[in-house]
Amino acid sequence: MKRFIYNRKRILPWLIGLLLPFLPAVATAQEASSTGIGMSALEQYVVWGLMGLEVLLLIIVVILLVVIKMMSNVLFPTSEVAPSGELVEPAKPWYQKFLTQVNDAVPIEREAEVMTTHEYDGIYELDNNLPPWWTAMFYITIAFGVVYLLYFHVFSLGSLQEEEYEEEMAQAKIEVDAYLATAGNSVDETNVTFISDVGRLDDAQKMFAQKCSACHGMAGEGGVGPNLTDTYWIHGGGVKDIFRIIKNGVPEKGMIPWKSQLTPVEMQDLSSYIITLEGTEPPNAKEPQGEPYERDEELALN
Ligand code: HEC
Repeated sequence: MKRFIYNRKRILPWLIGLLLPFLPAVATAQEASSTGIGMSALEQYVVWGLMGLEVLLLIIVVILLVVIKMMSNVLFPTSEVAPSGELVEPAKPWYQKFLTQVNDAVPIEREAEVMTTHEYDGIYELDNNLPPWWTAMFYITIAFGVVYLLYFHVFSLGSLQEEEYEEEMAQAKIEVDAYLATAGNSVDETNVTFISDVGRLDDAQKMFAQKCSACHGMAGEGGVGPNLTDTYWIHGGGVKDIFRIIKNGVPEKGMIPWKSQLTPVEMQDLSSYIITLEGTEPPNAKEPQGEPYERDEELALN
C-alpha cells in the first residue's frame, strides 16, 4: 500500500502542476503594480475566478486523497495476528475515534444486530442511528433559520433583497449625479457631442415642453421662435451651434440665454433632442428661416 498515490514524493509534482496556472496571474499582478497599469474589471474577474477554481480543485484533490487513504486501510489499521497467535487490536488514532463518534455506525462485525428484514435483490437494510454529524447539521440549519427569521423578518435588522437593491440603486444615482455634476460642467459649446441615450432624450423632451414650447411649439414647429424641425437654421444646425444658442441665447431677438437656469448637461440633452426633431414635419410648422444645414449621417457633431 505504501506504493500508492499518497506517497509524498509523488504528490508534490501534482501540487506544483496545480499551482502552475497561478503564475500568469501573479506575473500580471506584479506587472500591474510595477507599471501602474491595472487590470480591467473583466480581467480581474477572470483571474480571481480561475484562482478560486484552482483552490477548489486543490481542496477536492486533498479530499480525494484522504478518501483513498481511508479506503486503503492505512488510516484504519486492522487487527494483526501477534507471533503468539493472538489477535492484537491496534491502538485507535484520534481521528478514527472521532470519525467513529460522528458517524455512530454499527461496525461491520456487529452488522447482524441492526439488520432489518427488508431485503431486495439480496441487499438488506440496516437500522443504523442517524449519523450525529448529519443531525447536528440539521439542528444548526434550524437554529440558523430561527436567527434568520428574527433578524430579517421580525426585528427587520437587515435589509431584504429588494431594499438592498433600492439602496444600491439610490447610492448609484448619487454617484452618477455627482459624476455628472463635475464631468457635466466641462461640457461647453466647443466639445459638446450629440447624445442618443433614450432616457436623457426623454428628460429633454419634458424640459423642452416646459421651458421652450411657449415660443418654439410643443413639437418644435415654431411660433414666436423659429421652427426647430426643418433643415433651416439661423445660427447653424450643428450640435455645437445649437448648444451655443441655448446657452447664450440671442437676447436682442427674444431668445433667452439659458446658461444660468440649465446645467451644461441639460443643455447638451436639449441640443441633442432638438436634432432628433429634424424632419418630423409637425402640423402648423412655421416657414423656414435661415440657411439650409447639411447634416452628415452621424448627426453632425460640428
Ligand atoms: C421667449 C421665447 C423663447 C423661448 C422660451 C425659447 N426660445 Fe429659442 N428662440 C427664440 C427666438 C425668438 C429665436 C430666434 C432668434 C434669432 O432670430 O436669432 C430662438 C432661437 C432658438 C434656436 C436657434 C434656431 C436657429 O434657427 O438657429 C434654438 C436652438 C433655440 N431657440 C432653442 C431653444 C430652447 C432649447 C429653448 C428652451 C430651453 C428655447 N429656445 C426657448 C425664442 C425663444
